[in-house]
Amino acid sequence: MRYSDDIIEEVRMKNDIVDVISQYVKLTRRGSSYFGLCPFHNEKTPSFSVTPSKQMYYCFGCGAGGNVYNFIMEYENYSFGEALSHLADRAGVELPKIEYSREAREKAEQRANLLEINKLAAQYFYYQLRREGGKTAYGYLTGRGLSEETIRKFGLGYSDKYSDDLYKYLKGKGYSDELLRESGLFNVDERRGMYDKFWNRVIFPIMDVNNRVIGFGGRVMGDGKPKYLNSPETKIFDKSRNLYGLNVARTTRKNYLILCEGYMDVIAMHQAGFTNAVASLGTALTSGHASLVKRYTKEVLLLYDSDGAGIRAALRAIPILREAGVTSRVVSLKPWKDPDEFIKNEGAEAFEERLARAMDSFMFRVHIAEQEFAMDAPQGQNQFFERCAGMLLELSDELERNLYIEAIVKEYGRYGVGTEDIRKRVNTLALKGTPAEKRIQPKSGTPETKKKESAADKAQKLMLTWLVNYPGIFEQVEKYISPSDFVVPLYKEVAQMLFEQHKEGETNPGKLLNAFTDSEEQREVASLFNATIHLENEGEQQRAFSDALLRIKEESLKEKNRTWDPSDMAGLQELIKAKKELEDLGRKRQQLHISFN
Ligand code: GTP
Ligand code: MN
Repeated sequence: MRYSDDIIEEVRMKNDIVDVISQYVKLTRRGSSYFGLCPFHNEKTPSFSVTPSKQMYYCFGCGAGGNVYNFIMEYENYSFGEALSHLADRAGVELPKIEYSREAREKAEQRANLLEINKLAAQYFYYQLRREGGKTAYGYLTGRGLSEETIRKFGLGYSDKYSDDLYKYLKGKGYSDELLRESGLFNVDERRGMYDKFWNRVIFPIMDVNNRVIGFGGRVMGDGKPKYLNSPETKIFDKSRNLYGLNVARTTRKNYLILCEGYMDVIAMHQAGFTNAVASLGTALTSGHASLVKRYTKEVLLLYDSDGAGIRAALRAIPILREAGVTSRVVSLKPWKDPDEFIKNEGAEAFEERLARAMDSFMFRVHIAEQEFAMDAPQGQNQFFERCAGMLLELSDELERNLYIEAIVKEYGRYGVGTEDIRKRVNTLALKGTPAEKRIQPKSGTPETKKKESAADKAQKLMLTWLVNYPGIFEQVEKYISPSDFVVPLYKEVAQMLFEQHKEGETNPGKLLNAFTDSEEQREVASLFNATIHLENEGEQQRAFSDALLRIKEESLKEKNRTWDPSDMAGLQELIKAKKELEDLGRKRQQLHISFN
């Protein structure tokens, strides 16, 4: 059920965001925005902004953001309907009888159905585990040390040996094949039709922070391959925005989260009393995870496996977390492989001690770097300190940098270096002006693509922010960029709406936000209009602009390349054309002048 877009927009316009938020937060004017202490996280200096021209709020500390509806929903814990009627009341608007927007209704209905299907499937698996046929599976879980209470708490289950019973069960409940296909619970092939994806596996239901089942992991009992099968991403299952165990971990009062790799690790830790443990869903940590984590805590302990892959995963996770404003420390589990093994062998108390001895993530990187160089010869030592200088240069805060210089000297002073030597080295490196990305690349660390990806994300965000802040640049930008160049799906959707609004008159971010009802999406969209980059002057602004433009085109071309179907000849022509345009743009970059006034 839904009110018309017009009435939603009318109510929004009649509730000035500064007026509304002022009733909850003390705001002070600073330039074209108002600032105050963020009501959504604890802070001592104001990073919560409200911008009248955009009719949006955004917190630079925790990333909360949106329009006036989002604020009321988040602050009062209201549903959209409740926020609407509250604000309509406040502005004296009488709401008409409810009308339906077919598209919105269908979308909401489909999500609700998929959630229902997942819930039914979880119950079905849970029930199978407790039947005669589930004995082996139950034995497998208890054999791995899980108590009945733990099994119940995590809703663990079993998918039995029939490969069509879940399908039949859900068909019997009246769901269409189309919907069942969307659920990710089934495989489809021409010969066999639709059949259960999970077969003879123990099942780990995956829940979102609101305790709704959104997907499943299924493990073989024994050594079969693949060890785990996971639900594919669906309309309700976004692996880069959910973490296993967070539904429980978010309610613990600890001021840090434990981040590990596996479902079993999370479960073992929770059973041992460490209920603040979470894991990513069989994928590497993303910036989406980092901003999710940031909503609940400012510090993360990384408990990745103590092998090479685990170390690489930690090295990748550290800067992603840091960028989101989350500090991290790294816990060594040696000589055990993972938290599950550690706890089983050494117990909870020893585990607790390990957590307390977690290593600062910067020093962790220094230690890893040390192993890369031949430290028994002057040349190797020299390269090592050069690497340290590079890492120190990433730290923009001088005090922080000095503290780490001291820490490095304390540990490596035996090679005859003092504080001043390192400081000089850092300064020399700074003057060389090595591009930031080169500086940060550790030899064995972040793979090129990952790094680029986040830079490309940033470029897309900056462009959207500029388009909103300086509508005057639209004409110019449109010559080079269309919404389809934004490769992140959500960004593309926003770009489409923004370009559309521009065509119809003027951009209106506050209104645009009406279209997003999911609170994670709202946050992200709000952040798209509030991207920041430190720029000293006009020249830098120009450079940042042409950088962003090129980066977006480059990424868009890559994406087209990836998705191009080799039999599509017209597509090939387009690719070649796009490639040429990009090259031209690269050559022209000096002339890409644009006025930001
Ligand atoms: P156990 O081996 O049962 O202790 O499970 P674990 O959770 O410790 O698994 P492991 O450390 O090997 O892997 C960590 C995570 O990676 C798992 O929880 C899964 O999410 C994912 N994973 C592991 N193996 C596979 C696989 O074969 N396929 C997929 N898609 N994901 C996997
Ligand atoms: Mn394990």
